[in-house]
Amino acid sequence: MWLFRFLVLLCFTFLLLPSAQGWSKEGHVLTCQIAQELLNPEATEAVQALLPESAGGNLSAMCVWADQIRRWSKYRWTSPLHYINTPDNACSFLYKRDCHNTAAQLNMCVAGAIRNFTTQLTAFPKQGPDAKNNLTEALLFLSHFVGDIHQPLHVGFTSDEGGNTIELRWYRHKSNLHHVWDREIILTALADYYDKDTGLLLEDLQRNLTHGIWSDNVPTWERCVNVNSCINNWAEESIKLACTWAYEGVEAGMTLSEDYFDSRLPIVMERLAKGGVRLAMLLNRVFSENPKGGFGSSI
Ligand SMILES: *[C@@H]1O[C@H](CO)[C@@H](O)[C@H](O)[C@H]1NC(C)=O
Ligand SMILES: *[C@@H]1O[C@H](CO)[C@@H](O)[C@H](O)[C@H]1NC(C)=O
Ligand SMILES: *[C@@H]1O[C@H](CO)[C@@H](O)[C@H](O)[C@H]1NC(C)=O
Ligand SMILES: *[C@@H]1O[C@H](CO)[C@@H](O)[C@H](O)[C@H]1NC(C)=O
Repeated sequence: MWLFRFLVLLCFTFLLLPSAQGWSKEGHVLTCQIAQELLNPEATEAVQALLPESAGGNLSAMCVWADQIRRWSKYRWTSPLHYINTPDNACSFLYKRDCHNTAAQLNMCVAGAIRNFTTQLTAFPKQGPDAKNNLTEALLFLSHFVGDIHQPLHVGFTSDEGGNTIELRWYRHKSNLHHVWDREIILTALADYYDKDTGLLLEDLQRNLTHGIWSDNVPTWERCVNVNSCINNWAEESIKLACTWAYEGVEAGMTLSEDYFDSRLPIVMERLAKGGVRLAMLLNRVFSENPKGGFGSSI
């Protein structure tokens, strides 16, 4: 009996282990919930048509899919699509220089993946689910990666793997800098201000978007003429924030607590909101029959 319990416990430990890369589950779900509320009727219909039955019509329920499958052999190639490694201390992103995997294949980074799956989805209005690519997968990848590119340390330095190798303490427990930005800040905010209820945090984010601190900025956030340069700008914003806020003042072995949390929380919240707004912008455009301003062809 104890052996059985031990094995069950072991399995759960593995399931609950934080994944090294990607906004936490909470971050991805929030990004997608924000996006879902902002979809136009055409995009809503297309998303419903593409979602697997198991999602129950809820895109947010599938926004962690790309993390769940990335270690399966069939999908191992997608692992580098979650992030970008930039040269240490350059604090800039250049597509040709930085968007590749360790085998130096161009486009194999989160910016290239967003281009790729956005382009694939533009086939949907004309070809529907019979398009050449699996558009269900394209939708799930896109929804995940637009979240990731907004996590500042997903566009981090090469030598520390976006903060993954910077081990430190978050209040009283062990963590690393990457994980602080993926999850710890969000979890501490949930515990301190939202009664551990993601739904209450979502309401607060949505309130700030519709008639709060961000409502005047939303049109600027979603402005996008040329998709490739928009994606590059999102990555550039992330590495700039990584330099000025994530890495700033941090050394391995430190303890990060109130001061770091209080000053960085607004950055994390704004990135979640921006990710959601921009995911909706992309989906609204790729799924419209007559994309304005040649959006489809500008990709
Ligand atoms: C959609 O899925 C997310 C993540 O599983 C969940 O938190 C949320 O409550 C779901 N929404 C609805 C309307 O079912
Ligand atoms: C684009 O997607 C296809 C699968 O649909 C994949 O084979 C290719 O490697 C992807 N490229 C990038 C940059 O994501
Ligand atoms: C498309 O991908 C989804 C998710 O991996 C899978 O369930 C589905 O069977 C695929 N569809 C086709 C036609 O291969
Ligand atoms: C929403 O805005 C208020 C300031 O009006 C701020 O205190 C709060 O933290 C913001 N909430 C989120 C989730 O960003």
